[in-house]
Amino acid sequence: MTSRVNEGVIFLRRFVGAPRQVGSVMPSSPYLTRAMMDKIEWNDVRCMAELGAGTGVFTRAIVSKLGRGENLLVFEIDPALKALIEAEHLGVAVYGDAQELPQIMRDRNIRQLDCVVSSLPFAVLPPRVTAAILDVLDKTLKPGGKLIAYQYSTHMKPYFEKRFANVKISFVLRNVPPAFVYECTKARES
Ligand SMILES: C[S@@+](CC[C@H](N)C(=O)[O-])C[C@H]1O[C@@H](n2cnc3c(N)ncnc32)[C@H](O)[C@@H]1O
Repeated sequence: MTSRVNEGVIFLRRFVGAPRQVGSVMPSSPYLTRAMMDKIEWNDVRCMAELGAGTGVFTRAIVSKLGRGENLLVFEIDPALKALIEAEHLGVAVYGDAQELPQIMRDRNIRQLDCVVSSLPFAVLPPRVTAAILDVLDKTLKPGGKLIAYQYSTHMKPYFEKRFANVKISFVLRNVPPAFVYECTKARES
């Protein structure tokens, strides 16, 4: 298994190659991981997706809660990072571009998601990609479903507020860089 130091080196290299796609210089800290995981209502989750898995820090935490299996769809667009997660054999399916989520759900006969965990750097992705992924979230989350996302600024707040019935923001200082965690709840009737 790749050590955490090696993971950090690989992640930094991928960042240098594609800074706006990778969006940060190092994987999320255990503090940010815990803050993200604590927002998930695990008893309500039958099926969920993780977007932008990087080296798999959240993937491991999700698998430790949900167990291995069919109920988690993981997306990582960078082929080297995707291969790193696959090599760990966490027992979950890993796909490429998060924009393909609706198609993957159709293929796997999954109707709706209870929750999506996102690390995607929405604020720096091309605006049309960010808009397309927000549309994907509209389509795939169940009414009352949750998006748990982190960002390094409050830039996305109005965009999330436009699409979700409720948006709560908290702040995690112990991460490089410190991060805002968004807990966005979709309207119940849609
Ligand atoms: C800020 S990193 C977060 C990695 C990891 N989840 C963490 O918190 O340490 C964002 C990740 O999103 C991935 N990404 C960017 N655009 C994507 C897309 N359209 N589909 C899937 N992954 C994407 C990047 O390659 C990068 O690994």
